Amino acid sequence: MGLLKDFEWRYATKKFDSTKKIEQPLVDQIIEAAWLAPTSSGLQPFRIIEITDENLKKKIVTIAYNQQQVADCSHLLLFAGWDNYSEDRIDNIYKCIALERGQNPDFYNSYTTRLKKTYTSQSEEENFKHIAHQIYLAFGFAIAMAAELKIDSTPMEGFDTEELDKLLDLNKEGLRSVLLLPLGYRDEDNDWLVNQKKVRHPKKEFLLKI
Ligand SMILES: Cc1cc2nc3c(=O)[nH]c(=O)nc-3n(C[C@H](O)[C@H](O)[C@H](O)COP(=O)(O)O)c2cc1C
Repeated sequence: MGLLKDFEWRYATKKFDSTKKIEQPLVDQIIEAAWLAPTSSGLQPFRIIEITDENLKKKIVTIAYNQQQVADCSHLLLFAGWDNYSEDRIDNIYKCIALERGQNPDFYNSYTTRLKKTYTSQSEEENFKHIAHQIYLAFGFAIAMAAELKIDSTPMEGFDTEELDKLLDLNKEGLRSVLLLPLGYRDEDNDWLVNQKKVRHPKKEFLLKI
């Protein structure tokens, strides 16, 4: 039951010890977990931006409604989604899949034709919503990996996405910010939440058996 114990240990950290830095190979493992997450049709329509620049982290605090975790953490990960699906983006990943698997470049053509038809008939906002769903799943993988490594994290959607996009010039990259993940080590003495009981809905209400 190792993973469940890790999940009990994990909590949405409010105060990091800003003097403690995570060894880079551990951060890399957290990113790898997100990289390995499943995505719809394997399109992996997002990028992770690793931020360690202290000045930049401080600037993001204001955009994150003064949540200090953004500055006090060791590494700040931004999960940013493609701004839309496109024929090029779909072709690109499927060409890569065919190449890596030693298949003919046209191997997935009938499948990608269907995918392109579906996504080009939907609005940009509908597609972006779908893209964001893929991010939430990979984000869960990253948080779980962090917990297994005994690294603290705060899942965060409490920030102004448009302001962050502007600050990082994400539009130029065809990306839009979705979630922030500060990573680091808890400040046991100064975090009010650290020893609070984890409360969820009663299991008898949470689980419906049919
Ligand atoms: C998608 C998402 C967004 C969240 N945004 C924030 C946030 O902006 N700031 C924050 O301090 N906590 C944030 N949280 C943390 C939740 O409040 C927290 O996970 C929840 O209260 C359960 O507590 P626990 O994570 O400590 O078990 C967020 C959690 C999720 C899943």
